[in-house]
Amino acid sequence: MNILGISCFYHDSAAALLKDGVIVAAGQEERFSRKRHDSDFPARAVKYVLREAGLKPEDLDAVGFYDKPLLKFERMLSTYVATFPRSFNSFRKAMPVWVKEKLWVPSIIRRELRPYKGPIFFAEHHMSHAASAFLVSPYEESAILTVDGVGEWCTASSAVGRGSDVTLLKEVRFPHSLGLLYSAFTYYLGFKVNSAEYKVMGLAPYGKPVHFDRIMKEMVHLKPDGSFKLDMSYFSYDYGLRMTNGKFDQFFGGPPRKPETWMAEREFDIAASVQKVCEEVVLTMARHIHRETGLPNLSMAGGVALNCVANGRVIRETPFKNLFVQPAAGDAGGAVGVAHWLYNTIDKQPRGKAWTNAYLGPAFSDEEIGQYLAEAGARFEKLDDGELTRRTARAIADGNVIGWFQGRMEFGPRALGARSILADPRDPRMRDTLNMKIKFREGFRPFAPSVLEDRAAEWFDIECDSPYMLLVAQVREGKRTIPSVTHVDNSARLQTVRRADSPLYYDLISEFDKLTGVPLVINTSFNVRGEPIVCTPHDAYLCFMRTNMDHLVLGHYFLAKPDQPPLREDVDWRKLYELD
Ligand SMILES: [Fe+2]
Repeated sequence: MNILGISCFYHDSAAALLKDGVIVAAGQEERFSRKRHDSDFPARAVKYVLREAGLKPEDLDAVGFYDKPLLKFERMLSTYVATFPRSFNSFRKAMPVWVKEKLWVPSIIRRELRPYKGPIFFAEHHMSHAASAFLVSPYEESAILTVDGVGEWCTASSAVGRGSDVTLLKEVRFPHSLGLLYSAFTYYLGFKVNSAEYKVMGLAPYGKPVHFDRIMKEMVHLKPDGSFKLDMSYFSYDYGLRMTNGKFDQFFGGPPRKPETWMAEREFDIAASVQKVCEEVVLTMARHIHRETGLPNLSMAGGVALNCVANGRVIRETPFKNLFVQPAAGDAGGAVGVAHWLYNTIDKQPRGKAWTNAYLGPAFSDEEIGQYLAEAGARFEKLDDGELTRRTARAIADGNVIGWFQGRMEFGPRALGARSILADPRDPRMRDTLNMKIKFREGFRPFAPSVLEDRAAEWFDIECDSPYMLLVAQVREGKRTIPSVTHVDNSARLQTVRRADSPLYYDLISEFDKLTGVPLVINTSFNVRGEPIVCTPHDAYLCFMRTNMDHLVLGHYFLAKPDQPPLREDVDWRKLYELD
């Protein structure tokens, strides 16, 4: 049975293909269209997953959409009515898109998937999230928490997964939303909503949560069962085009920070405060659902589940023994969720193997890469596995910055060793080098390490694996020799690497360990600021040539910057790999 899952029209649209109970391919549209957080219908991603599965649209048995547009529309209309006339501007801006696009999801799907004539199903947004977490987790039974901005009405839910079943227990409803609260603070701090929330999390350790008590007293009314209400007089996201209002400004003694301006203690303290509020709410929810279910396993999804500091506290401070957060825990993962929900929960099919890695995107053979490099006029050496990992490890240890492009692209927001930029974590200047010369981004954000799974506990205070870089743990005291991946509070957001999932990456880090005694490297996503992570050899080569990266490793090809001729912008890579 072949099921296509789709999520789109909000942010990060994506497609996933479930073949006989196993996701064989999944991808976010932004990687193919090269438009960051692309929310359009994921036509290119759909084309890719179908090709990867060897299918045509007419071979599909069902198509699933990750939310219910009509229910969402109803929520928006009733909110507009309730907040009229303040909502007029927002209403005027949102309506044309709804009338043109969002209300016509079934006909758009039919048009895009011609000649597909089968059924189209719609799952509730938080059911898609819950299914995306539990049904690919390694647990037979699990408590489930989903927390995000908003779906139709629901903004957070608790659920229980047993076998192929997912049962929703309780929900928090719009406008009360932890995700939107976090986004409101993101907006107030001068960052982009729906994309820069992780920057606020990165800022938090520089400040003190001095506003925490006041926020919990006046803005967020949290109950012991994890449900909460926001005092909406501080916010305008339910009716306006801004997230916060004058009362919010008064609360923090000034207007929102202008983007790209100087930040100081005040901004750090506000970031630290909202981060602590987020952790407090998530911990309260987790403790409550543990009391209710008594289960040792927790699966989480929704945008807030990408808050790896909160996740780290859930695993350390609640009675749950195990935590699973899938790599595309945000809305992109909804495409996976709805497909699994249709197959397992609705059609009552048994579950397949749990996910152990995020490599669900396109791969490129050495032949394809070689053909591209020849066309681009690039100079390279071709090396075998052993020589490739040794040379790359040596280059990293010598202070070089490496573009590392191997195998299938990751699904989800993190680069996990398939489309990564790698560097030496021991060099205290490496953070600035990477920020200024490669990523062209703000200097405050820490980098993250990829560590050999079997050596992680030696370096970090962690007892479980973290294959998707979604947990934060303290660097152990005797191991504070890796300044470029250690945050000011001595924490690190780490990825544990298993040889079974990515043998070449594991071997590379092992070689680096042999040279330096450090079983980890800096791993940051292979892109520059504002661009999606690279997908094809062409994307990678362009990024390599346009930044101060020293080496590029594409499959078995090893490239050095000084050897390269000037960049030719006219190579038509689409001929090589038809993504359009
Ligand atoms: Fe969501």
